[in-house]
Amino acid sequence: MSKNPSVDVHSRPVEATADLERVVGLEFTRATEAAALSAYKWMGKGDKESADFAACDAIRGLFDTVSVSGLVTIGEGIKDDAPGIFKGERLGNWSNGSVRMAIALDPIDGTTIVSKGLQGAIAVMAAATCADGEDPNSLLADIPSFYMNKISFGPRVKQGPGRVRLDNSVQDNIEIIALKLGKRVQDLTVVILDRPRHERLIHDVRRSGAAIRLISDGDIAGAIAPSLPGSGVDIYMGTGGSPEAVLAAAGIKCLGGDILAQMWPRDDAERKTLRENGVTDADLNRVYTADDLARGNRIIFAATGISDSALLKGIRYEGTHAITTSILMRAKYHTVRYIKTCHNMDMKTIRLHSDASEHSL
Ligand code: FBP
Repeated sequence: MSKNPSVDVHSRPVEATADLERVVGLEFTRATEAAALSAYKWMGKGDKESADFAACDAIRGLFDTVSVSGLVTIGEGIKDDAPGIFKGERLGNWSNGSVRMAIALDPIDGTTIVSKGLQGAIAVMAAATCADGEDPNSLLADIPSFYMNKISFGPRVKQGPGRVRLDNSVQDNIEIIALKLGKRVQDLTVVILDRPRHERLIHDVRRSGAAIRLISDGDIAGAIAPSLPGSGVDIYMGTGGSPEAVLAAAGIKCLGGDILAQMWPRDDAERKTLRENGVTDADLNRVYTADDLARGNRIIFAATGISDSALLKGIRYEGTHAITTSILMRAKYHTVRYIKTCHNMDMKTIRLHSDASEHSL
């Protein structure tokens, strides 16, 4: 209560339930930090499976001690043949009364980046708190296709007349975004995954006059960047992993931007499999927004930079200290925290799930 009754500091109604995601938020940051530090040991070593295994082991190990009843609803993508954390796995110690959460994660978005020692890799997790009786699988959508066609943009682009649409021409979308951002088209920067399938898209963006930043991998950071002030990125466009679209949506929701995404079957064989699994034409034609992919506002998003990206600085070593940079956001109030952590590697240990004990790195 305010001591001064004339000062109204209670303009928001008090809610019956506490924001439990607030309580566990830092644990998610500790987990992405542990994953990033473990992955960094494999930078440039040409072994993405070992990097992925190390990051997964660290996340599982950390959550073994955390009071959360976490159900993984989106794990390693179906596109990965990775030693990962998969859908259906439980994270946390599931202690009595602990918060029930749907968890989506990519222990390393950019495993190839890590194996080659390139830029743009992050460790990332998102979680949605489940209300009583709520199905965790309904909160962070598990999209059945391998890829989605995506476009993402920041909060200013969502406002006012003129809509970005996936079925607009590239030129039209770029002009709408330029207008809404009050920029000239030639001053916009578009992030696109560097893939042969994007040849036409890259051609069209070049023809519009906008600048392109091609990324070799890691489109979660690329898709969130337009919503982050100061990232230097205005638009993300192109086809990338479906789980990555959901993780990006969770982050974008915390920043007030949006992503439009549609399932993009690679070929007739995938289209047939999707149909056999109950995916209808309506599902295939559906354009999902950030709200559809990451439902509700009880969502947290945590990521730590492994190597530099438009979203986060990568890990730096100064003497025996490792410096990590992380972002921790909540959808409810759009709170964005940057957490710079200095880890004394002479003392730091990481708990691994594989042998349930602490290890120095
Ligand atoms: P991984 O780190 O899991 O390999 O994913 C990297 C990534 O670049 C994603 O960010 C992106 O969505 C997807 O792969 C694109 O898929 P592809 O490499 O098949 O084009």
